[in-house]
Amino acid sequence: MTEHVRLTGRHFLPDRVLLQLRDIRQRHAADRPLLHAFLDCVLDKHEGRFHNRTYLALPVLELLMDERHAALSADRMSVMLMSDVVRFEIEAAGGAHEGTGRGRPDPARLGTRLRHALRFVAKSLGRPEDGDWPSRVAHLSQSRLEDLVDHLPRPPATDGFRWFDVTVQPVSVLHDEYFFIRVLQTHEMLFTAIAADMGEVIRELRAGDLAAGVERIDHAVAMFERAAVLFRIVATLRAEHFSGFRQYTEGASAIQSEEYKRFEILCGVPTAARLCSSAFTSVPAVKAEVEDEHHDSVTRACLDLRAEGRVGPGEWHRLDAALGRLENGHQRWKAAHRSLAVRMLGDAHGTGYTDGVPYLTQCLDNRLFWQLGTSR
Ligand code: HEM
Repeated sequence: MTEHVRLTGRHFLPDRVLLQLRDIRQRHAADRPLLHAFLDCVLDKHEGRFHNRTYLALPVLELLMDERHAALSADRMSVMLMSDVVRFEIEAAGGAHEGTGRGRPDPARLGTRLRHALRFVAKSLGRPEDGDWPSRVAHLSQSRLEDLVDHLPRPPATDGFRWFDVTVQPVSVLHDEYFFIRVLQTHEMLFTAIAADMGEVIRELRAGDLAAGVERIDHAVAMFERAAVLFRIVATLRAEHFSGFRQYTEGASAIQSEEYKRFEILCGVPTAARLCSSAFTSVPAVKAEVEDEHHDSVTRACLDLRAEGRVGPGEWHRLDAALGRLENGHQRWKAAHRSLAVRMLGDAHGTGYTDGVPYLTQCLDNRLFWQLGTSR
């Protein structure tokens, strides 16, 4: 199935194959959650459900992270995803992955892509089972890259099958769509981890442990730095290759990324204008969460702490500085994203139906902690 998709592109699956897949889902997938999730994703376009979540096979990845399966954290999954980019590119350069061969990067672009992806992986490793990976990467030459392929971390097989390997189902046959999908999946994982950090910060502040809250905020700041590397990797994509596959991704956009918006509402309630814009109408589940009367945020917790007058000036200063670092990290993320979009998109509209770069320019004016304003 995956080989077929790689040879034709998911957009072009013939009716015969679609019917077979629907039949398999109906007859065999009811008690096989992974198979069901996989088929739901593959059939999304043809059933009028094409969306960021299904384009990126997030339901399958989430099941793989589940404790019944590999029990991987979002952070760890991000390393697996980026390792897979390295593996795929090295194997393709060696002649593998026929069918996804159109528009392969030239050696200079490939070198830059691999360098950033390897750095991302090396920085995130450090467990005993990862061995001497980080130092190996630091001293690696291009000619020895092939030696690494078998050592790259990869999720174990689940139910006797490597489900992870089929979580890229490109809509086109362009080579670069593979790494682009993996980068967006990595982005989802990083923002899942960052949103979890924010939940933890709220709990620490509510418990009055400001030092622990600051530590968590700085963890999120570090994750933002890793997220910024993703734009450097995507910058190795040629604009004409990007427009080659984006013509088939209309309707799926990262504006639908729930974790990115969840991170935002956990920092503070966005302005009414942003809540009513497509930024939030594209994520109805997250919009419902922020409109829930029990919704809590870092901003709310800070305002309550201030009203209670229990915190000394020194502690406030440290918390305020940490929030400032997070705000700056987010501003840098948005600016890097916008620059990439200017280069790749020009004045075309976005696949999430915004007017494209002008929407992203407006986003630069938003602030996560705008309600804390002058008090910070
Ligand atoms: C070729 C590269 C890219 C272009 C041209 C691009 C373009 C855009 C555009 C035009 C939007 C506005 C929504 C829409 O109409 O689709 C958007 C939103 C978004 N993009 Fe990208 N993007 C690119 C790469 C990325 C990457 C690599 C990531 C993540 C690592 C990302 C994450 C996001 C997020 C989270 C939003 C929602 C922003 C918000 O609503 O505040 N994008 N992108």
